[in-house]
Amino acid sequence: MKIIAVETSHDDTSVVLYENKKILKEYSFSQAGFHKQFGGTVPELASRKHLENLVLILDELLKNDLTNLHHVAFTDRPGLIGSLHMGRLFAQALAFSLNVEARPINHMFGHIFSVSFTQNILYPAVALIVSGGHTQLWHVKSLHDIDLIAETQDDAVGEVYDKIARTLKIGFPGGPPIDKLYDSNVISGEFNLKNHKGYALSFSGLKTKVQSYILRKQKEALKLNSFDLKYIATNFQFAVVKILIEKTQYAISNYNPKCIILGGGVSANSLLRQEFQKIHENALVPAMEFTTDNAMMIAIRSALLEENKK
Ligand code: KG4
Ligand code: ZN
Repeated sequence: MKIIAVETSHDDTSVVLYENKKILKEYSFSQAGFHKQFGGTVPELASRKHLENLVLILDELLKNDLTNLHHVAFTDRPGLIGSLHMGRLFAQALAFSLNVEARPINHMFGHIFSVSFTQNILYPAVALIVSGGHTQLWHVKSLHDIDLIAETQDDAVGEVYDKIARTLKIGFPGGPPIDKLYDSNVISGEFNLKNHKGYALSFSGLKTKVQSYILRKQKEALKLNSFDLKYIATNFQFAVVKILIEKTQYAISNYNPKCIILGGGVSANSLLRQEFQKIHENALVPAMEFTTDNAMMIAIRSALLEENKK
């Protein structure tokens, strides 16, 4: 089954041509470099960039053999309204011109099913989805029956990574540079939060704790030295992963899943990937290329839905 999939929910413009679990062509433009100057994504500018990128992608996409195309899948929610709108209009116009259906796909379910490229999901499953916009636990009862168990009450994990990295002035997005600074030799538990029973997920307290520490250090010496950077990054990451693992373990004890699934941009994190695989004998972690937002995950989710039509 041949599918075109379109993902424009945030700052990545991504279109793929997919056939039978294979990506025949991928056209992806990250806008992260462009939004860096603003310290975060500017929604209005992101929509305009999507439009520019989609025009370029269209020229290339139409050079492929699109006969027997089954449908065009696109991310319909959640995401930045203007950015989603660009993807929707593009997908619908393309589908109309190629005389196929345009099918909406939930972005979060795309993240959950990213692991399907390489591994089989056993139901019921528990999924931890961590990105710049979301921190969620899902109960995946089947391909069609997916319930939200819990989500963060305030900042998403990736968002906190980005804010801490901005305060430390080590780059945007913040996840990769913090992950790189992580060094298990300097773990002290400095920023660890108490584990509150239940599903209450919140990261703003941790963010404030780390930022206050940074400000205090900056008062002592204007510029943080390389040890300070390593120490802060390590203990921040350690505290984040501790919370995520504890909440996932709590969901495991309640739902007794046959497998657990990790997904979203923060699932690229080395410590999280390592610790996640220790808490269940069947822990599915996506290949690195499927962690960040991409149209491949939209394609696989849409293909699975078509193959397993109710
Ligand atoms: O799912 P995603 O690609 O897109 C949006 O949510 O828009 O997630 C992006 C987030 C960013 O906040 C980024 O800092 C974070 O994923 N991220 C990481 C790592 N790589 C990317 N966070 C922690 N560790 C990483 N290695
Ligand atoms: Zn995402």
